[in-house]
Amino acid sequence: MAVAFTVNGKAASVDVDANTPLLWVVREHLKLTGTKFGCGSGLCGACTVHVDGKAVRSCQTTMSEVAGKKVTTIEGLSPTSSHPLQKAWIAEQVPQCGYCQSGQIMQAAELLSKNKKPTREQIVTHMDGNICRCGTYPRIVRAIQRAAKEA
Ligand code: FES
Ligand code: FES
Repeated sequence: MAVAFTVNGKAASVDVDANTPLLWVVREHLKLTGTKFGCGSGLCGACTVHVDGKAVRSCQTTMSEVAGKKVTTIEGLSPTSSHPLQKAWIAEQVPQCGYCQSGQIMQAAELLSKNKKPTREQIVTHMDGNICRCGTYPRIVRAIQRAAKEA
């Protein structure tokens, strides 16, 4: 079926099975490869994107759920890569291998869009489902705190 939606502010339409995961469409059809395949089971958060402003696991989101909605990937978070989180991520030198990081940033961006001054506890709770095999968690928390301060 043809599914029409918006991705990073632009209209998109793909001809896929309704059950195709959004992750495959983002990476394979649209070539937006900043979004990563980690577990494919909704357990790691590497594939996190926003659908109508809500952070979702794109490996668990079917195209039928995305029809007519607005998808934002890491490539569309800021037109100039200058979102406060992206700046804070650089300032705190967060990534190690980097694989999980676009998902981490998209998850964090949802939090700051709803809660501009989260407590440390709220940050930790919100980020709980995003796994980092390199253990960059302390820097992730620091970067979110920095972005909240500077936003
Ligand atoms: S790849 Fe989607 S949650 Fe791990
Ligand atoms: S930076 Fe390597 S998995 Fe998170």
